[in-house]
Amino acid sequence: MSETSNKYTFGMIGLGTMGRNLLLNMADHGFAVAGFDKNPAQVALLEKEGHGKPVKAFTSAHDFVQSLQTPRSIIMLVPAGKIVDSVIKEMTPLLDKGDILIDGGNSHFTDTTRRVTELEAKGLHFFGMGISGGEEGARKGPSMMPGGDKQAYSQMKPVFDAIAAKVDGEPCVTYIGPGAAGHFVKMVHNGIEYGLMQLIAETYELLKNGLKFDNDAIHKVFEKWDEGRLQSFLIDITKDIFAFKAPGTDHLLVDDIKDEARAKGTGKWTSQVAMDLETPITTIDTAVAMRDLSKYKQLREKAATLYSTEETQLDNDNTDTIVAELEKAFFFSMIITYSQGMHLLQKASKDFQYNLNLDEIAKIWRGGCIIRSLFLNDIFNAYQKDPSLQHLLLDGKVKELIAEALPGARSIVSKATAAGIAMPAYASSLSYFDAFRSKRMPSNLIQAQRDYFGAHTYELIGKEGVFHTQWLAENEEDLIHNT
Ligand code: 6PG
Repeated sequence: MSETSNKYTFGMIGLGTMGRNLLLNMADHGFAVAGFDKNPAQVALLEKEGHGKPVKAFTSAHDFVQSLQTPRSIIMLVPAGKIVDSVIKEMTPLLDKGDILIDGGNSHFTDTTRRVTELEAKGLHFFGMGISGGEEGARKGPSMMPGGDKQAYSQMKPVFDAIAAKVDGEPCVTYIGPGAAGHFVKMVHNGIEYGLMQLIAETYELLKNGLKFDNDAIHKVFEKWDEGRLQSFLIDITKDIFAFKAPGTDHLLVDDIKDEARAKGTGKWTSQVAMDLETPITTIDTAVAMRDLSKYKQLREKAATLYSTEETQLDNDNTDTIVAELEKAFFFSMIITYSQGMHLLQKASKDFQYNLNLDEIAKIWRGGCIIRSLFLNDIFNAYQKDPSLQHLLLDGKVKELIAEALPGARSIVSKATAAGIAMPAYASSLSYFDAFRSKRMPSNLIQAQRDYFGAHTYELIGKEGVFHTQWLAENEEDLIHNT
């Protein structure tokens, strides 16, 4: 409780696992906090877990709101979608002008944009804040991406700085930008998360089905990778997964899990928005598509019978060389995945006037969140050096890293393709790179075709204007028209 007002500093709506853990994290840092949930069982759980800490839980919305210091800072951690709207509807009449309501879930950024406008009209500050790190992150330090009114942010800053993960003593939270900027950035974080997870899954596929590695050998590969430049949260947990036994058995749990991946939608949203903003993020698109393909289990089983070929196996005389190439190929594809995500952020920043600081975003992703990795230091340095960097692949240091890893990527993609092992995210990353570095793409032909069948016109090299050709005309003079 605040010493001056006898009221709680911060409020939480929704006392599920994430909500409770985040509140307990705040209490650990000395903040007096209040929680609200209609479910008495959740309230009782928080009271129990928060015993001896400055924590109070309520089942009455009115009592909860009245217990908070004004202007109030309240965070909601409830499932994205309609529930957020119904909570807002219930809470707004209880709040006063100047209060801040924060949505800490994975809401779609367009919903957040709408809610900011609706609540601003009522004198309230609405914040969309991406929180990454899962249960453990919420309790011990997440990465947080708050977007909304900048002045209101200063009110919440001390609490956020205290509870966020720290890297080199610096908190993994920063003001992201106006409106829905926070939720947009969190969505792209998740898109990158999908890309990296798919790359790791394909790595597993190659090690298991290509090189016939057993789980222990796979564990050792990820263990080694986690000690080098691939060091990251996702590689780290993958290493653990390949050592985790199904309870009461002698085999690994991962082998018992169905090969049908679920998704809550943030990866798909990232791809949808990227299409809208005409910014290609092909590795992330592939990752979303592969989760979808995995769900067609029955179809895949039929096709597996129909198209069964001889056992696919790599020419694995020298597995050490292939694993070394795979490390390079992963590093290469990982760089491409982050590059695509950063490119999308840059485009959105311009189109939606989010005014994003890409260096700051890379910095707060270095700790607490799911995509934290050693490589984010290089991303941070690249945008620090040149805030207007058009694309991460144009950075000098990144260029060197790519040049070193590229032969590995080419070798692995061609070996996997020849052996019939699906590595679509690796292949897509490589093709994206090859197209990206093309001075001249074959798109002139697409323009010619469009004009041929639909008179859609084209532009000419070194000539002003827009042209159309009668591709089937008999006379020379009818051929080309400047339209
Ligand atoms: C995080 C995660 C989290 C996300 C899960 C599941 O940053 O902590 O991104 O927000 O909800 O990873 O996402 P999917 O169900 O879409 O895989």
